[in-house]
Amino acid sequence: MSTTKKEADTRGLAGQTIGETAVCAVNQTQLIYRGYEIADLAANASFEEVAFLLLVGHKPASGELAAFSEELAQMRSGLGEGVLSTVERIARESPGAHPMDVLRTAISLAAHEDPDCEDNGPEAELRKSKRLLATIPVIVGTHQRALDGLPRIESDPSLSHAANLLWLLTGRKPGEIAAKVMDVSLILYAEHDFNASTFTSRVIASTNSDMHSAVCGAIGALKGNLHGGANEAAMEMLKDIMEDTASGDMTVDAWMERAFSEKRKLMGFGHRVYKNGDHRAGILRDWGIRYAEQENPDTRKWFDLGDAVQKIMLDSKNIHPNVDFPCGMTYFAMGIPVPQYTPIFVASRITGWCAHIMEQHQNNRIIRPLAEYTGPGLLEWND
Ligand code: CMC
Repeated sequence: MSTTKKEADTRGLAGQTIGETAVCAVNQTQLIYRGYEIADLAANASFEEVAFLLLVGHKPASGELAAFSEELAQMRSGLGEGVLSTVERIARESPGAHPMDVLRTAISLAAHEDPDCEDNGPEAELRKSKRLLATIPVIVGTHQRALDGLPRIESDPSLSHAANLLWLLTGRKPGEIAAKVMDVSLILYAEHDFNASTFTSRVIASTNSDMHSAVCGAIGALKGNLHGGANEAAMEMLKDIMEDTASGDMTVDAWMERAFSEKRKLMGFGHRVYKNGDHRAGILRDWGIRYAEQENPDTRKWFDLGDAVQKIMLDSKNIHPNVDFPCGMTYFAMGIPVPQYTPIFVASRITGWCAHIMEQHQNNRIIRPLAEYTGPGLLEWND
């Protein structure tokens, strides 16, 4: 046996297949939701159709879609006063609390008023999935409005999930292009097999714990900047680059050189699976630029900066952007406050999480792997 061959680094379960799923397939070039490739879905489906596909398991017929959309619109008003007033109180008393933490707290509170909370059967779990999907934008919007010192606004049942999310967050009815760009971003974010937050949700579900507990855990996992938090971190990084290069004393190349020499991880770049590029990134970049050029031309400069950073990263490190990189610029162009980017991710990924939690509960065995012990040998307490 060769002793010179470098052993694969399997820390972080890299390269390990640790279970089965019928929800999603990921390989170097494709991301497939229940048989449909993401580029096809982003071009031809609506977020509601994708949500139905993930949660129910098949492409909806038109009657099914209409009933699903109507049910979601009605469920938007289902949160109790206790949840919403707590969210507003947190905004007043702890304005620095991260919106992901507030969302996690609100979902935890919502569990207490959900009549299906302790029922892990398929019908109850589908009902809970829909309630969570319908109400997460309400929590996100209520929190942002309270941070802005503004009163709560009601959901608009005539709006799609994406458009209603924008309405609740900004207090402005979105135009066609804004609703479309948000819808596409939600489709791209909806599902991604055994990523860290989904895996977390499955581990929790596998103990026979309930859906809300699994979702709270998943929110905690998504918050980190190596995962969903990267969309916020990517925008903050671009803001730093823009500021540091504004005077002309430093070029973007020099900024990047310094980051490389400091061995910094550049946010919104790299991926555990896609080593030759994440094709969601190109789809969202194109929609983001379309939005910026049409609705907010001043923000086009962020995409130009992003392209420059992307080129240097590729030329110097052969590392491609992931979907969080254009997401940051796109949501920024849409005027969304940066700390709400990852909660918006939740307003989409809740569909993938719930699909996985249901799949786990329907064919469950507790997830309990082994560890290789690296501590001291056996010791005597009285020595
Ligand atoms: N900036 C600089 N170097 C990087 C980056 C980056 N963003 N990503 C990977 N590398 C380097 C890394 O330092 C390592 O180099 P070396 O072999 O010399 O030590 C090499 O590329 C392999 O990277 P890795 O850390 O082994 O990759 P991983 O599979 O363990 O981690 C990752 C994947 C996504 C956590 C990582 O690429 C990263 O930290 N990226 C920045 C955060 C980010 O954008 N996260 C979003 C992930 S995708 C969507 C989502 O989940 O929301």
